[in-house]
Amino acid sequence: MSDLEDPSDSIAGVKLPAADGRVAIRLDVNGRSHTLRVRTTQTLLDALREEVKLFGARSGCGVGMCGACTVLEGGRAISGCLTLAALCDGADIRTVEGLQGPDGKLSRVQEAFLRHRAFQCSYCTSGFVLALEALLARESEPTEDAIREAFSGHLCRCGSYSRIMAASLDAAGIQPAPGASAEDA
Ligand code: FES
Ligand code: FES
Repeated sequence: MSDLEDPSDSIAGVKLPAADGRVAIRLDVNGRSHTLRVRTTQTLLDALREEVKLFGARSGCGVGMCGACTVLEGGRAISGCLTLAALCDGADIRTVEGLQGPDGKLSRVQEAFLRHRAFQCSYCTSGFVLALEALLARESEPTEDAIREAFSGHLCRCGSYSRIMAASLDAAGIQPAPGASAEDA
């Protein structure tokens, strides 16, 4: 039996748990395939942190309100805290750890966040970065409004919003409005 075969049945394509209460799934995370046995109640966020040992996505509110747990699924930003890992069999997941190039070079968005020091404690940073990465992947020239929309549902408890927007406008190639300093962006 392969490591992914499971004695349990499935209903409508959703696997039922085995006797140990776990479900076998395969996740592609940052280009690497992982075979996991997850609890039926385990969120994608917890599976990434507890099983894959990637800690860039964080738990904040736990109810889809803060964005700290954001990861990309097939290029789309999703809340890891609201997603059951057992339903992610075969998913293509990217976390903030997977944004660097093979040579270790940071992504354009990461570089801009560093350049503008767009964080204090950085708890929220991976969520903002991934939300912007997802936007730029589908819109190469987004408007400022589109960036603000992409950030809806993302909170920064340190209040670094002006620097986050300055970095994001920079990464998107948008000039700040005349007379606006980076801090006012
Ligand atoms: S921890 Fe998921 S949105 Fe806050
Ligand atoms: S930098 Fe601390 S929560 Fe955003």
